[in-house]
Amino acid sequence: MALNRVIHICKGATVDVLNLLIEDHRTVEALFDKIETTDNPRLMQQYFAQIAQELTLHAAGEEEAFYPAVGQFASTANLVRESYEEHAEVKRLINDISFLQPTAPLYRERIAQLRAALAHHIEEEEGELFPRVAEHFSEQQCLELGDQVLQTKKEAKQRLLGMGV
Ligand SMILES: [Fe+2]
Ligand SMILES: [Fe+2]
Repeated sequence: MALNRVIHICKGATVDVLNLLIEDHRTVEALFDKIETTDNPRLMQQYFAQIAQELTLHAAGEEEAFYPAVGQFASTANLVRESYEEHAEVKRLINDISFLQPTAPLYRERIAQLRAALAHHIEEEEGELFPRVAEHFSEQQCLELGDQVLQTKKEAKQRLLGMGV
């Protein structure tokens, strides 16, 4: 099954889009494990900054390259529309947390909310959207789309760094 494909790497740059996005999901989950198991406010701030950056770049890759490419089918249109809404909710929570100190009483609660919102979204992507994409797209298309997502993430990172974030 397509979701179990090994990661395809050609000339160090070409990656199967589904594996690329799944890898991003695991990276963010690992950062949540870290932020949830430390009491050090400086580390919490550092992990949150990493989570926010990872999610910003991942969302740019999905919203600007992946979703527009995969949302045109009857079986994917609704899921993609919902995904944009779920991303908006995640961004709203990230914004809320960015105004809180890690020592604030609400901080852990907001982090838990963010993680839960993400878990729901990731479950939908990996459990419903990605398998449908794998049905519609050839391996070659998945590789090309992987390149496009990587390129989009790179551009988003330059924008972010340009803003001094
Ligand atoms: Fe995703
Ligand atoms: Fe997403």
